[in-house]
This record gives sequence, structure tokens and C-alpha cells, in this order.
Amino acid sequence: MDIAGSTALVTGASSGIGRAVAIGLAKAGAQVVGLGRDRRALRSLAETGGVTVRHVNFESAGELQRFVEQSLPELPPVDILVNCAGSGRYGPLAEHSTEDIDRLLDVNVRVPILLTKAVLPGMRQRGCGRVVNVASIAGRLGVPNETVYSASKGALAVFSRALDAELAGTGVGVTVAIPGVVRTAFFERRGAPYDRRWPRPLPPARVARAIVRAIGRDQSEVVIPGWLRIPIWMQATLPSLYGRLERWFG
Ligand SMILES: NC(=O)c1ccc[n+]([C@@H]2O[C@H](COP(=O)([O-])OP(=O)(O)OC[C@H]3O[C@@H](n4cnc5c(N)ncnc54)[C@H](OP(=O)(O)O)[C@@H]3O)[C@@H](O)[C@H]2O)c1
Repeated sequence: MDIAGSTALVTGASSGIGRAVAIGLAKAGAQVVGLGRDRRALRSLAETGGVTVRHVNFESAGELQRFVEQSLPELPPVDILVNCAGSGRYGPLAEHSTEDIDRLLDVNVRVPILLTKAVLPGMRQRGCGRVVNVASIAGRLGVPNETVYSASKGALAVFSRALDAELAGTGVGVTVAIPGVVRTAFFERRGAPYDRRWPRPLPPARVARAIVRAIGRDQSEVVIPGWLRIPIWMQATLPSLYGRLERWFG
């Protein structure tokens, strides 16, 4: 995929990984439209150059629908969609309210699926395009106290895999990005800071570089950092050993 000269739509561009991806794609020559809620953060992103910004709150079904039906058709055709907006919630399942569960499933699963569905016809017609869904290692391994978040990211990853296979031969592809721990506002926002000494959180720019590279190479999956493939492999192949290690190391 040629990033230079393309148009990229990036959700969650106001913060963390999404902001770094928006800047990375703009540096690679894309015309970037960044979406988010925090108006001050969006203004600061726009000042970096190469990114125009739009305010959309995905928790409002009306705002999402207005964006898809009114704003999206006014944009240049989207060649790259990066679904990065996401929300977490830490704590036992019993402490998740119905609203928490709805929010996680809406923002992390329903919104990326609806946005993908909205840009796909244009991509297919032009015979070229890439959707990147930012899932999580939690969605691969399943993390205690993040049950609904893990389920939402697992669903997004499976959706990506299935759609990528469905689109084979069309020139349009889907990348699922599986980051480990990244130094962003995510942890404060989910209701619990990251307090482990290891693995050390990665800077969002490192994750963004891997995502931009994966787009350029038409990769279907990118795991960041790459060594996280070891626990993924171990859980799939040796689940009881993985379970014991998980209990020992947390
Ligand atoms: N940090 C990690 O360790 C980690 C690891 C694996 C995967 N991830 C995933 O990476 C993605 C980005 O997270 P991050 O770490 O960069 O966290 P972050 O800094 O908190 O960024 C989250 C982004 O999502 C946007 N967002 C959340 N709810 C939204 C809503 N209802 N409507 C519109 N935008 C909304 C936020 O917008 P505003 O700021 O404008 O509200 C923000 O731009 C998420 O999908 C997350 O699940 C993160």
C-alpha cells in the first residue's frame, strides 16, 4: 500500500497510540483526518501539520450516525482506516455496570465494525485500501479483571481476521494490531494505573511505527513487541503450562 498521497481516517487520534499513528501517517505523506472527543487535544494535533481533525463522541449513537451519513461523504475517499479509539475498565466482572459493558462493546467493537462497513464499498470499488483495527494482547490471552475489555478486543481481532479472509483478492486488506503495554492515558482512564515493573510500557511512537510499517507492507497482523508471540503461542499450544505460569507470575 502506498501511504504517500493516500487519505487516512484515524479514530482515537486525540491521544496516545492514535495520535502517534496520525502523526506517523502524516509524516509518511498521507492526508490524515483524526477523530476524537477532547477538543484541546484535537487542536494540538492539528497544529502538528498534515492532520485535520473532527470531533466525534462514539458513545452517542446519533453522533456516530451523523458522522457516517453526513461528514464521511464530504471527506476525500478513505484509503486507510485506523480504528484506534478504545476504552478500558478494570475490576471484577461483578463490578462492571451494564453501562460499562455497553460502552466497552460499543466503542471497542460496534464502532470499528460500523466505520469499516462505511468505508469498505469505496475501497472495494477502487480495488485498494486497508483497515487497521487496534486490538490488544488482552484480547488474545484474556486478562483477569479485564474480562469485558479482553472479550471486546478478542472480538475485534476475530472480526479483522474473518474480514481479511473475506476480502482476499479484492486489493483491500485488514490488519489487526496487537499491542502489549503502552505508556498512555489508557490505564488511568480504565480505573487502575499500570503498576507492574515488567513488561515495561512501550512509548506510543514505537507502536505507531510498527503500525505504519504494517500498512506499507500489507501485513494482516502486527504484534508489538514481537516477543509477545511467545505467550500467544504457548497459550494456544500448551494451555495448562500457560495457566500455571500465569498464576505464578500474574
Ligand atoms: N495503552 C495500552 O497499553 C494499550 C494496549 C493494547 C491496546 N490498546 C488499545 O489502543 C487503543 C488506543 O489506546 P491508548 O492506549 O492510546 O489510550 P488513550 O490515550 O486513552 O486513547 C484512547 C483514544 O480513544 C478515544 N476514545 C475513547 N472513547 C471514545 C469515544 N466514546 N468516542 C470517541 N473517541 C473515544 C479517546 O478520545 P478522547 O481522548 O478525545 O476522549 C482517545 O483518543 C485503544 O483501542 C486501546 O484499547 C492500548
